[in-house]
Amino acid sequence: MRGELKRFDNLDELSEAAAADVCSLISETVSRKGACSVALSGGNTPRALHHLLATRYRDEIPWDSVSIFFGDERYVPHSDKKSNYLMAKETLLDLVPIPKGNIHPIRTDLSGTDKAASAYERVLRNFFQDVGETFDLLLLGMGKEGHTASLFPHSKVLDECRKWVTAVDVPATPSSRITLTYPILNRSASIYFLIAGSDKRPALSKVVNTESDYHLFPARGIEPVKGKLAFWVDSSADPA
Ligand code: 6PG
Repeated sequence: MRGELKRFDNLDELSEAAAADVCSLISETVSRKGACSVALSGGNTPRALHHLLATRYRDEIPWDSVSIFFGDERYVPHSDKKSNYLMAKETLLDLVPIPKGNIHPIRTDLSGTDKAASAYERVLRNFFQDVGETFDLLLLGMGKEGHTASLFPHSKVLDECRKWVTAVDVPATPSSRITLTYPILNRSASIYFLIAGSDKRPALSKVVNTESDYHLFPARGIEPVKGKLAFWVDSSADPA
């Protein structure tokens, strides 16, 4: 078993517990270092968490000290329903008093995915100044075949060891993506996977197994250099 497995009966209970934990992690980080950087994931699983952070915990989180980033993005306009930025904007960012300048979307208005990727690399390199640790909190999901962010099985991006952000074509819709890579993701201080649904169980049983190959199950390649790894799962995804 890799990391800590946190089991819950259902996604609602998982999201409630995760929201309480995220609120205290952000508050503790801000009181310790004056700021907190959070990378959001796309997909649907985080919606309930976002809702709780924007309602129950809205006034407990020091939003003016929080910086928001994205683990990946579909190369679509930010107005497109498939945009991870739009999902986060609608379910969280528009509902909390976070300064607009603290939100760092992946710019899909730039012409071409390579340009979007290198622009985001510059944003991240400037923000973290290559100091060692990157995100204070990285939120990730996992697809039923074991992808995470836009790191999909058999992709050449899985062995990228220098760039922090890269353009990639994936076997999902939309196929054109920009994704962060293991070198930056694995330098996060805390990495939380939020995973729910029986369709995720087979891949998750591989991902928590240290013997699995990350080329087949890319979420297995999420291995924090020094940070904490936790899998927040509901009973239907639980690999036990
Ligand atoms: C994306 C996400 C992706 C997501 C998984 C799980 O851009 O789609 O970053 O990695 O987390 O596909 O998605 P669900 O939460 O919708 O199952």
